[in-house]
Amino acid sequence: MTTSRMSGFRNLSIDERRARIADTTGLEPQRLDVLSPDRGLSLDQADHMVENVVGVLGVPVGVATNFVVNGRDVLVPMATEEPSVVAAASNLARMTRDHGGFRTSSTAPLMQAQVQVLDVVDPAAARLRLLQAADELIALADAQDPALVEHGGGVRDIIVRVLPSSRQTYVVLHLVVDVRDAMGANAVNTMAEAIAPRVGEIAGGRTLLRILTNKADLRLTRVSAVFDRELLGGAEVVENMVDAAEFAVVDPYRAATHNKGIMNGITAVVLATGNDTRAVEAGAHSHAIGADGSYTSMSRFEKNADGDLVGTLELPMPVGLVGGATKVHPVAQANVAMLGVRSAAELADIVMAVGLAQNAAAVRALATEGIQRGHMSLHARNVAVTAGAAADEVDAVVARMIESRSIRTDAAHDILADLRSR
Ligand code: MEV
Repeated sequence: MTTSRMSGFRNLSIDERRARIADTTGLEPQRLDVLSPDRGLSLDQADHMVENVVGVLGVPVGVATNFVVNGRDVLVPMATEEPSVVAAASNLARMTRDHGGFRTSSTAPLMQAQVQVLDVVDPAAARLRLLQAADELIALADAQDPALVEHGGGVRDIIVRVLPSSRQTYVVLHLVVDVRDAMGANAVNTMAEAIAPRVGEIAGGRTLLRILTNKADLRLTRVSAVFDRELLGGAEVVENMVDAAEFAVVDPYRAATHNKGIMNGITAVVLATGNDTRAVEAGAHSHAIGADGSYTSMSRFEKNADGDLVGTLELPMPVGLVGGATKVHPVAQANVAMLGVRSAAELADIVMAVGLAQNAAAVRALATEGIQRGHMSLHARNVAVTAGAAADEVDAVVARMIESRSIRTDAAHDILADLRSR
């Protein structure tokens, strides 16, 4: 990868954009052919992925530019149906470049599975019996996945919790598993099912559920970035952005929308790489609980000593590179190749960087002119293209539609006719 800074990228044709991406990333240009609707996921492939297949759904894939993550320039494919998202992430990523881009740190890729035990007469003592049997249970679980153990993964710990409920007191065992480059659901679910009978025997009860938890709070990725004060629009914009973000910290109603903005970026990259969007979303929202137990903002924004804006975000990020749709979906494979990531952790880093950039973009728009103007100009671009505007005509058509406040295909047709008659 040379640089992800690509001014004028949006004004290129789709073919030209692909050529630029291939050139920048060093990928063979043909590697991106699968991004065409007629070359992507085939019906036959889809038929092997889920049941009762009747078709496939196209979602636009845009490429976010300007990202530097842990010192590496990266072009980020984003699958989203929402206008403004790709442009907004790219724009705010640009504002971090002179300050080193995005920096991340992560825990080990630890996923957890739960085994629920019922009808235990002595829950506290059962908890200790299970902890005393940790070595035996860990060995039994590891034996289910020798390949994972060979790759340096496997069970790292056992946690046992005693949970009183309205029905009875449950004993719940957590298997903590290092899943390496997998998302990990299959690995931990297989282990949980395999050890459950022995867990039931040791606890002296009946096991019921054996399933991973999507509250993947031992598999965290943290990202931070400094957004340049002048590029953001000055000191007042920074102050207003900090207040806008603080609103989400103290109010669950605002937090839900603020966090939705973060997920606009995160889900788009997770989907583009064939990962499980619902798992990431469940993990993210369950992590957004403050010290007082109420739902809060996933991110924090502060002003640093230089007056620039510092954004931080910490979330579970259970994405994988092996298994699932990431391995079978041809477009997901091309997107992973475009990212140039070699590990699930590197993918998680980029996903988180996009989440933070997306969040900063929304907060900046809301704290300044509002989001409708940006939405409208992108909407106008779509209308201009739909009306048949060529690449070199789009800007003029958009400008005139916005000026006349009529963003409609018939207006675009009239403007085009006028432009072409000159
Ligand atoms: C729209 O998809 C996302 C926003 O509502 C996020 C936010 O309010 O922070 C703009």
